[in-house]
Amino acid sequence: FHVDWDIMTAEKGGFDHFMLKEIHEQPKAYHDTMLGRISEDGRSVVLPELKISAEKLRGINRVHIVACGTAYHAGLVGKSIIENLVRIPVETDVASEYRYRSPIITPDTLVIVVSQSGETADTLAALREAQRNGAHVLAITNVVGSSVAREADDVIITLAGPEIAVASTKAYSSQLIAFYLFGLYWAQTNGTQDEATVANILAAMQALPEQVEKILAQAEVIKGVAESISKHDSLFFIGRGLDYAVAMEGSLKLKEISYIHSEAYPAGELKHGTLALIEEGIPVIALITQEGLYEKTLSNIKEVKARGADVLGIINEGHEAEVAKSTDRQFAIPRTLPLLTPALSVVPLQLLSYYASLALGHDVDKPRNLAKSVTVE
Ligand code: G6P
Repeated sequence: FHVDWDIMTAEKGGFDHFMLKEIHEQPKAYHDTMLGRISEDGRSVVLPELKISAEKLRGINRVHIVACGTAYHAGLVGKSIIENLVRIPVETDVASEYRYRSPIITPDTLVIVVSQSGETADTLAALREAQRNGAHVLAITNVVGSSVAREADDVIITLAGPEIAVASTKAYSSQLIAFYLFGLYWAQTNGTQDEATVANILAAMQALPEQVEKILAQAEVIKGVAESISKHDSLFFIGRGLDYAVAMEGSLKLKEISYIHSEAYPAGELKHGTLALIEEGIPVIALITQEGLYEKTLSNIKEVKARGADVLGIINEGHEAEVAKSTDRQFAIPRTLPLLTPALSVVPLQLLSYYASLALGHDVDKPRNLAKSVTVE
């Protein structure tokens, strides 16, 4: 009698790679990160772990979000979430820049550091710099007891579970969930959103796990696109607003594990330079999920299409017929609120990089030159 499995395969839960397993764990990661943090009636956020008083929170007049890599990209979405819900100005910075640029930090600044591992050297240094200047530091991290978790004044733990693949997936998306929860909590505290609005967003958030499942069930569509883009040396991701923030993460993911060069560009900025690089056959991944920016982005898609680009549209369900006229292929994500789309639109991009890396025969879980946790400067 022979059982053909080894311990690594067992840990991968039947998936070929940790990355694919972790992509598929996102519905659970969303669920677990929300668990116990939404009131039973679904109308408010409860974050009993927070020590910051309501009075202190109401006095905050500036936010700095600081992180590295994928966590930085979650911070870009975090900026939109907080500015949208709480109407307080937010700057998002890469930790290695922040710590040396003498940022303007006052006791009324809230500094949010984001780190999956909680051990990234530059992020930890930024946290210390913020505290030295009297700021209150909130950490969003996946590791209880990590350096960042221990040193921060407040911590929101993401419950993504251990992430093994170097390319972050479920940690990123769980960081988004943490930002939504914190943004709503703060909006409740400051009274910047009414109860019905908060309840509406919470209801939409609770539908996210099932919506991610729906996306995962269509992975084969993305696999086909990934195989065709893996034959190219360079490609572009475009989008506006939150779509641009997600485009940046999609581009980083692809670079990390497929080694294909790509650039994420704000769709409206293309004509100020990058459009010169759009030529016959170049792949463009266009995100068009932001209702308020739909017409604007569509016209940018037409611009690249007119120059021969091979366009994959990441679109909202229901827009198929209209967007099809300007794209070669499309992938529809289920309907949600515009603010929540990043939690869905990132998933096809994760799958795209995974399958491109696979098609090229690279080591998906351990890309060259990169480490899961960078504890030196
Ligand atoms: C490394 C990893 C990235 C990660 C970044 C920040 O560069 O390769 O995937 O996004 O560190 O890591 P952290 O643990 O602070 O989120």
